[in-house]
Amino acid sequence: MLVFAKIKSVLQRIQSLKKGASIGFVPTMGALHKGHLSLIEQAKKENDIVIVSIFVNPTQFDKKEDLINYPKTIDSDLSLLKSVYCDIVFTPTAEEIYSNNITSQLFNFDGLEYQMEGKFRDGHFDGVGTIVKRLFEIVTPTKSYFGEKDFQQLQIIRKMAEKHQIPTKIIGCEIYREDDGLAMSSRNSRLTKEHRAIAPFIYKTLKKAKNEFGTKNAQEVIYWVENEFKKQPLLALEYFEIADEDTLQPIKNKDSKQKYRAFIAVFADKIRLIDNISL
Ligand code: PAJ
Repeated sequence: MLVFAKIKSVLQRIQSLKKGASIGFVPTMGALHKGHLSLIEQAKKENDIVIVSIFVNPTQFDKKEDLINYPKTIDSDLSLLKSVYCDIVFTPTAEEIYSNNITSQLFNFDGLEYQMEGKFRDGHFDGVGTIVKRLFEIVTPTKSYFGEKDFQQLQIIRKMAEKHQIPTKIIGCEIYREDDGLAMSSRNSRLTKEHRAIAPFIYKTLKKAKNEFGTKNAQEVIYWVENEFKKQPLLALEYFEIADEDTLQPIKNKDSKQKYRAFIAVFADKIRLIDNISL
Protein backbone atom coordinates (compact mmCIF):
# COMPACT_ATOMS: atom_id res chain seq x y z
CA MET A 1 0.00 0.00 0.00
CA LEU A 2 1.39 3.38 -1.00
CA VAL A 3 0.67 6.52 1.03
CA PHE A 4 1.05 9.95 -0.57
CA ALA A 5 0.52 13.37 0.98
CA LYS A 6 1.46 15.40 -2.11
CA ILE A 7 -0.76 15.92 -5.14
CA LYS A 8 2.28 15.70 -7.40
CA SER A 9 3.25 12.25 -6.07
CA VAL A 10 -0.25 10.78 -6.33
CA LEU A 11 -0.59 12.19 -9.87
CA GLN A 12 2.72 10.62 -10.89
CA ARG A 13 1.63 7.25 -9.51
CA ILE A 14 -1.74 7.45 -11.30
CA GLN A 15 -0.04 8.37 -14.57
CA SER A 16 2.25 5.36 -14.28
CA LEU A 17 -0.69 2.91 -14.07
CA LYS A 18 -1.27 0.55 -16.97
CA LYS A 19 -3.33 2.17 -19.71
CA GLY A 20 -7.01 1.41 -19.23
CA ALA A 21 -6.62 0.31 -15.58
CA SER A 22 -9.81 1.14 -13.72
CA ILE A 23 -9.57 3.24 -10.57
CA GLY A 24 -12.08 2.89 -7.74
CA PHE A 25 -12.10 5.89 -5.40
CA VAL A 26 -13.38 6.17 -1.83
CA PRO A 27 -13.11 9.66 -0.31
CA THR A 28 -13.17 9.76 3.50
CA MET A 29 -12.34 11.98 6.44
CA GLY A 30 -10.58 9.14 8.28
CA ALA A 31 -11.60 7.73 11.69
CA LEU A 32 -12.37 4.68 9.62
CA HIS A 33 -14.84 1.99 10.68
CA LYS A 34 -16.51 -1.02 9.07
CA GLY A 35 -18.93 1.24 7.19
CA HIS A 36 -16.01 2.82 5.31
CA LEU A 37 -14.39 -0.58 4.81
CA SER A 38 -17.56 -1.91 3.16
CA LEU A 39 -17.20 0.81 0.48
CA ILE A 40 -13.54 -0.08 -0.04
CA GLU A 41 -14.34 -3.78 -0.34
CA GLN A 42 -16.96 -3.04 -3.00
CA ALA A 43 -14.47 -0.80 -4.83
CA LYS A 44 -11.86 -3.58 -4.70
CA LYS A 45 -14.26 -6.01 -6.37
CA GLU A 46 -15.14 -3.64 -9.20
CA ASN A 47 -11.81 -2.01 -10.11
CA ASP A 48 -8.15 -2.76 -10.85
CA ILE A 49 -6.89 -0.45 -8.15
CA VAL A 50 -8.47 1.37 -5.21
CA ILE A 51 -7.54 4.82 -3.96
CA VAL A 52 -8.79 6.07 -0.59
CA SER A 53 -8.39 9.68 0.46
CA ILE A 54 -8.23 10.75 4.10
CA PHE A 55 -8.78 14.46 4.50
CA VAL A 56 -10.72 16.28 7.20
CA ASN A 57 -12.09 18.97 4.94
CA PRO A 58 -12.25 22.32 6.79
CA THR A 59 -14.73 23.99 4.40
CA GLN A 60 -17.57 21.57 5.14
CA PHE A 61 -17.65 22.27 8.88
CA ASP A 62 -19.98 25.05 9.90
CA LYS A 63 -18.77 24.92 13.52
CA LYS A 64 -15.08 25.42 14.24
CA GLU A 65 -15.22 23.19 17.33
CA ASP A 66 -16.55 20.26 15.25
CA LEU A 67 -13.55 20.57 12.95
CA ILE A 68 -11.13 20.73 15.89
CA ASN A 69 -12.82 17.80 17.66
CA TYR A 70 -13.07 15.59 14.58
CA PRO A 71 -11.35 12.30 15.54
CA LYS A 72 -7.93 11.75 13.97
CA THR A 73 -6.79 8.14 14.03
CA ILE A 74 -4.34 7.94 11.13
CA ASP A 75 -2.30 4.97 12.44
CA SER A 76 -5.29 2.73 12.93
CA ASP A 77 -6.80 4.02 9.64
CA LEU A 78 -3.69 2.96 7.73
CA SER A 79 -3.62 -0.50 9.30
CA LEU A 80 -7.34 -0.99 8.53
CA LEU A 81 -6.72 0.09 4.92
CA LYS A 82 -3.83 -2.38 4.65
CA SER A 83 -6.08 -5.15 5.99
CA VAL A 84 -8.52 -4.65 3.09
CA TYR A 85 -5.70 -4.42 0.51
CA CYS A 86 -6.20 -0.77 -0.38
CA ASP A 87 -3.64 0.16 -3.05
CA ILE A 88 -3.12 3.89 -2.60
CA VAL A 89 -3.94 6.27 0.26
CA PHE A 90 -3.96 10.00 -0.36
CA THR A 91 -3.54 12.07 2.83
CA PRO A 92 -3.08 15.70 1.80
CA THR A 93 -2.81 18.65 4.20
CA ALA A 94 -5.27 21.57 4.01
CA GLU A 95 -2.48 23.66 2.53
CA GLU A 96 -1.86 21.11 -0.22
CA ILE A 97 -5.54 21.23 -1.23
CA TYR A 98 -6.43 24.87 -0.64
CA SER A 99 -3.04 26.68 -0.66
CA ASN A 100 -3.73 29.62 1.64
CA ASN A 101 -7.32 30.17 0.55
CA ILE A 102 -9.53 27.87 2.61
CA THR A 103 -12.89 28.74 1.04
CA SER A 104 -15.66 26.91 -0.79
CA GLN A 105 -16.71 27.25 -4.36
CA LEU A 106 -20.44 28.09 -4.50
CA PHE A 107 -22.60 25.46 -6.18
CA ASN A 108 -26.12 25.20 -7.47
CA PHE A 109 -27.38 21.70 -6.76
CA ASP A 110 -30.88 22.45 -8.12
CA GLY A 111 -32.39 22.75 -4.66
CA LEU A 112 -31.03 19.48 -3.21
CA GLU A 113 -28.85 21.60 -0.93
CA TYR A 114 -31.76 23.39 0.78
CA GLN A 115 -33.40 20.27 2.19
CA MET A 116 -32.74 18.47 5.48
CA GLU A 117 -29.02 18.68 6.35
CA GLY A 118 -28.79 21.88 4.30
CA LYS A 119 -31.21 23.61 6.67
CA PHE A 120 -29.15 22.78 9.71
CA ARG A 121 -25.56 22.96 8.43
CA ASP A 122 -24.79 26.28 6.80
CA GLY A 123 -22.47 26.07 3.76
CA HIS A 124 -21.86 22.37 4.39
CA PHE A 125 -22.67 21.11 0.90
CA ASP A 126 -20.64 23.82 -0.86
CA GLY A 127 -17.71 22.55 1.21
CA VAL A 128 -18.43 18.94 0.27
CA GLY A 129 -18.84 19.86 -3.41
CA THR A 130 -15.57 21.81 -3.38
CA ILE A 131 -13.46 19.03 -1.91
CA VAL A 132 -15.03 16.16 -3.84
CA LYS A 133 -14.70 18.01 -7.17
CA ARG A 134 -11.04 18.76 -6.40
CA LEU A 135 -10.38 15.14 -5.44
CA PHE A 136 -12.12 13.87 -8.60
CA GLU A 137 -9.86 16.13 -10.68
CA ILE A 138 -6.74 14.74 -9.00
CA VAL A 139 -7.68 11.06 -8.79
CA THR A 140 -9.65 10.79 -12.11
CA PRO A 141 -11.56 7.76 -10.83
CA THR A 142 -13.47 5.35 -13.07
CA LYS A 143 -15.97 4.71 -10.26
CA SER A 144 -16.44 6.60 -6.99
CA TYR A 145 -18.11 5.14 -3.91
CA PHE A 146 -20.32 6.97 -1.44
CA GLY A 147 -22.47 5.63 1.39
CA GLU A 148 -26.25 5.87 1.46
CA LYS A 149 -25.70 6.70 5.14
CA ASP A 150 -25.28 10.28 3.85
CA PHE A 151 -27.96 9.96 1.20
CA GLN A 152 -28.35 13.69 0.60
CA GLN A 153 -24.58 13.99 0.12
CA LEU A 154 -24.70 11.07 -2.36
CA GLN A 155 -27.42 12.76 -4.44
CA ILE A 156 -25.62 16.11 -4.32
CA ILE A 157 -22.41 14.51 -5.57
CA ARG A 158 -24.32 12.79 -8.39
CA LYS A 159 -25.71 16.22 -9.33
CA MET A 160 -22.28 17.89 -9.12
CA ALA A 161 -20.65 15.21 -11.31
CA GLU A 162 -23.46 15.50 -13.86
CA LYS A 163 -23.47 19.31 -13.97
CA HIS A 164 -19.68 19.59 -14.19
CA GLN A 165 -19.45 16.66 -16.60
CA ILE A 166 -17.00 14.76 -14.44
CA PRO A 167 -16.48 11.36 -16.05
CA THR A 168 -16.75 9.11 -13.00
CA LYS A 169 -19.56 6.70 -12.21
CA ILE A 170 -21.04 7.45 -8.79
CA ILE A 171 -21.88 4.28 -6.88
CA GLY A 172 -24.19 4.46 -3.84
CA CYS A 173 -23.42 1.80 -1.21
CA GLU A 174 -25.82 0.37 1.37
CA ILE A 175 -25.72 1.56 4.96
CA TYR A 176 -23.53 -0.69 7.09
CA ARG A 177 -25.02 -1.23 10.55
CA GLU A 178 -24.04 -2.54 13.97
CA ASP A 179 -25.70 -5.85 14.91
CA ASP A 180 -28.36 -3.94 16.82
CA GLY A 181 -29.20 -1.82 13.75
CA LEU A 182 -27.43 1.43 14.64
CA ALA A 183 -25.85 2.88 11.48
CA MET A 184 -22.05 2.81 11.83
CA SER A 185 -20.55 6.24 12.36
CA SER A 186 -17.34 7.62 13.81
CA ARG A 187 -19.60 9.51 16.23
CA ASN A 188 -20.97 6.33 17.83
CA SER A 189 -17.83 5.90 19.93
CA ARG A 190 -18.52 9.30 21.55
CA LEU A 191 -21.94 8.21 22.88
CA THR A 192 -22.31 7.61 26.62
CA LYS A 193 -23.17 4.04 27.64
CA GLU A 194 -26.78 5.07 28.24
CA HIS A 195 -27.12 6.81 24.87
CA ARG A 196 -25.39 3.98 23.03
CA ALA A 197 -27.89 1.55 24.57
CA ILE A 198 -30.90 3.55 23.38
CA ALA A 199 -29.51 4.62 19.96
CA PRO A 200 -30.81 1.52 18.05
CA PHE A 201 -34.27 3.01 18.71
CA ILE A 202 -33.59 5.29 15.72
CA TYR A 203 -33.41 2.49 13.14
CA LYS A 204 -36.18 0.51 14.89
CA THR A 205 -38.45 3.54 14.51
CA LEU A 206 -37.44 3.98 10.86
CA LYS A 207 -38.39 0.35 10.14
CA LYS A 208 -41.76 0.79 11.86
CA ALA A 209 -42.30 4.06 9.97
CA LYS A 210 -41.72 2.15 6.73
CA ASN A 211 -44.49 -0.25 7.76
CA GLU A 212 -46.80 2.60 8.72
CA PHE A 213 -46.19 4.23 5.32
CA GLY A 214 -47.86 1.21 3.73
CA THR A 215 -51.27 2.22 5.08
CA LYS A 216 -50.93 5.85 6.20
CA ASN A 217 -50.15 9.11 4.44
CA ALA A 218 -46.83 10.91 4.98
CA GLN A 219 -48.16 13.45 7.49
CA GLU A 220 -49.69 10.72 9.65
CA VAL A 221 -46.37 8.83 9.66
CA ILE A 222 -44.50 12.04 10.59
CA TYR A 223 -46.85 12.63 13.56
CA TRP A 224 -46.46 9.01 14.59
CA VAL A 225 -42.63 9.24 14.59
CA GLU A 226 -42.64 12.58 16.43
CA ASN A 227 -44.85 11.02 19.07
CA GLU A 228 -42.59 7.97 19.46
CA PHE A 229 -39.63 10.27 20.16
CA LYS A 230 -41.61 12.24 22.74
CA LYS A 231 -41.66 9.03 24.78
CA GLN A 232 -37.87 8.78 24.58
CA PRO A 233 -36.24 11.39 26.86
CA LEU A 234 -32.63 10.46 25.98
CA LEU A 235 -33.09 11.20 22.27
CA ALA A 236 -34.15 14.57 20.83
CA LEU A 237 -35.60 14.45 17.33
CA GLU A 238 -34.23 17.22 15.10
CA TYR A 239 -36.11 16.26 11.95
CA PHE A 240 -37.99 13.36 10.40
CA GLU A 241 -38.92 13.79 6.75
CA ILE A 242 -40.34 11.69 3.97
CA ALA A 243 -38.98 12.83 0.63
CA ASP A 244 -38.68 11.93 -3.02
CA GLU A 245 -35.36 10.08 -3.53
CA ASP A 246 -34.35 12.10 -6.58
CA THR A 247 -35.42 15.65 -5.72
CA LEU A 248 -35.31 15.26 -1.92
CA GLN A 249 -38.47 17.41 -1.83
CA PRO A 250 -40.83 16.49 1.02
CA ILE A 251 -43.61 14.28 -0.30
CA LYS A 252 -46.97 15.89 -1.05
CA ASN A 253 -49.03 13.01 -2.39
CA LYS A 254 -48.00 9.39 -2.70
CA ASP A 255 -47.38 8.39 -6.29
CA SER A 256 -46.69 4.71 -6.91
CA LYS A 257 -44.14 5.55 -9.62
CA GLN A 258 -41.93 7.60 -7.29
CA LYS A 259 -39.31 6.27 -4.89
CA TYR A 260 -39.46 7.64 -1.38
CA ARG A 261 -37.10 7.63 1.55
CA ALA A 262 -37.48 8.60 5.19
CA PHE A 263 -34.69 10.71 6.71
CA ILE A 264 -33.98 11.34 10.36
CA ALA A 265 -31.59 13.38 12.51
CA VAL A 266 -31.50 12.90 16.28
CA PHE A 267 -29.47 14.33 19.12
CA ALA A 268 -28.24 11.87 21.73
CA ASP A 269 -27.18 14.56 24.18
CA LYS A 270 -24.64 16.55 22.10
CA ILE A 271 -23.97 13.83 19.53
CA ARG A 272 -25.94 14.23 16.32
CA LEU A 273 -26.89 10.99 14.57
CA ILE A 274 -28.44 10.64 11.10
CA ASP A 275 -30.03 7.69 9.36
CA ASN A 276 -32.46 6.95 6.51
CA ILE A 277 -34.49 4.14 5.00
CA SER A 278 -35.93 3.44 1.59
CA LEU A 279 -39.74 3.21 1.76
P1 PAJ B 1 -16.90 10.38 5.94
O1 PAJ B 1 -17.89 10.77 6.96
O2 PAJ B 1 -15.55 9.91 6.41
O3 PAJ B 1 -17.54 9.22 5.07
C1 PAJ B 1 -16.86 8.69 3.97
C2 PAJ B 1 -17.84 7.82 3.21
O4 PAJ B 1 -18.23 6.71 4.01
C3 PAJ B 1 -19.14 8.57 2.83
O5 PAJ B 1 -19.49 8.26 1.49
C4 PAJ B 1 -20.13 8.03 3.84
O6 PAJ B 1 -21.47 8.06 3.37
C5 PAJ B 1 -19.64 6.60 3.98
N1 PAJ B 1 -20.14 5.97 5.22
C6 PAJ B 1 -20.01 6.42 6.48
N2 PAJ B 1 -20.64 5.60 7.35
C7 PAJ B 1 -21.21 4.62 6.60
C8 PAJ B 1 -22.01 3.47 6.90
N3 PAJ B 1 -22.38 3.17 8.15
N4 PAJ B 1 -22.41 2.68 5.88
C9 PAJ B 1 -22.05 2.99 4.59
N5 PAJ B 1 -21.31 4.06 4.25
C10 PAJ B 1 -20.87 4.85 5.23
O7 PAJ B 1 -18.69 11.76 4.02
C11 PAJ B 1 -17.57 12.22 4.19
O8 PAJ B 1 -16.61 11.58 4.93
C12 PAJ B 1 -17.12 13.54 3.58
O9 PAJ B 1 -18.22 14.40 3.47
C13 PAJ B 1 -16.43 13.38 2.20
C14 PAJ B 1 -17.36 12.77 1.16
C15 PAJ B 1 -15.15 12.51 2.34
C16 PAJ B 1 -15.98 14.78 1.69
O10 PAJ B 1 -15.15 15.40 2.60
